[in-house]
Order: sequence, then C-alpha cells, then structure tokens
Amino acid sequence: MEKAPANSEILFSSREIDNLVSKIAAEISTHVKAAKTEPLFVGVLNGAFMLLADLIRKVDYKTQIDFVKVSSYGSGTQSSGEVKLEFGPKNSVQGKDVYIVDEIIDTGRTLLFLKNHFMKLGARNVYLIALLDKKVRREVAIDPDFVGIEIPDEFVIGYGLDWAESYRDLSDVRVVKT
Ligand code: IMP
Ligand code: MG
Repeated sequence: MEKAPANSEILFSSREIDNLVSKIAAEISTHVKAAKTEPLFVGVLNGAFMLLADLIRKVDYKTQIDFVKVSSYGSGTQSSGEVKLEFGPKNSVQGKDVYIVDEIIDTGRTLLFLKNHFMKLGARNVYLIALLDKKVRREVAIDPDFVGIEIPDEFVIGYGLDWAESYRDLSDVRVVKT
C-alpha cells in the first residue's frame, strides 16, 4: 500500500515543519528561562508524539515530559464535540508550569478541557502549544500561547495527524482533497 493517500498533497514539507518547530522552541526557550522554573511538557496522545519529541530537543532548558490521552474525534473527520480524559498525566502537576503540546487546534474543545483540568490538578500556570491552528473552526474561546502556523479549514494528515488512525507516520503534513 502507498504510504500517503493518492487524493492528498503536501501542505508543509518536513523541512518547513522543522522550521516551525524551531520557531516555537525558540519562543518557549525564552519563556521558560524567564520563569526560572523547570517546566512540564505534556503531549496529547496520539497526535502529539512526533511534535513533542522534536520540540523538546530544541527547548534550551531542563524539562520534564508526560502524556495524556483524550478522546473526542471518532474515526471520521468530524469532532463529536465531547472530550474525555482516557489517562494521564503520570507526574504530579502541583505547582508546576505546564505546557500542553498538541499538533493541531481545531474547535478548541480539547485544549480548553485540558487547560481547565490541569488548573484543577493544581498547576501554577498552563500554557498551550499547537503546531497548526485552524482558527476559523474555533467553537470555544481559547487560543494557544504558542502557535506554529494558522491553516484554513481543511483536513490534514501526517506528522502525528491521523485519518482513521492511519498516516500519523508521514514526515510531511498533507491536505486531503475530497
Ligand atoms: P479540537 O478539540 O476540535 O480542537 O480538536 C483537536 C483534535 O482534533 C486534534 O488534537 C486532532 O487530534 C483532531 N483534529 C482536528 N483537526 C484535524 C485534522 O485536520 N486532521 C486530523 N486530526 C484533526
Ligand atoms: Mg490530537
């Protein structure tokens, strides 16, 4: 089977993604150095596994990492609108500066839910990071503190983003043409 679907084309090459990740990492490095406290980076599974791995190596500061898993998307391309915490985080977030890492923000429901959840768990601050921002799709009042780039309302796959659980392994971000 072909690695990428035939009805898809590259939106951001792996090189362009690398530049976006470097840009975010530089901003975050400045931010955490000013805060002078060891941050906890929390990746939102499954989508953020690649971004977290790439980002964390570019952040120039001592850090901790953890993961959470949430469910909201079904197997299609439409969000159910409901967010549920499946598991995580393993570490205590009490008093910590938490940076939640997601590869894309769409309706905003996932990151809003997680921000509220981490505040309830006693985090000192919660910051939101999203590589891609489908700003026109927002349904709740939340914006990430650190963004790679804004994209139009199109369905994207690759670099962690799935289509019915496939294509997360693509190095490029591709847009699916339907
Ligand atoms: P939100 O809660 O609507 O902001 O959705 C966030 C989650 O929906 C992301 O972490 C992705 O898992 C998923 N998602 C949103 N847009 C896309 C897309 O274009 N392709 C694949 N997954 C997406
Ligand atoms: Mg996700």
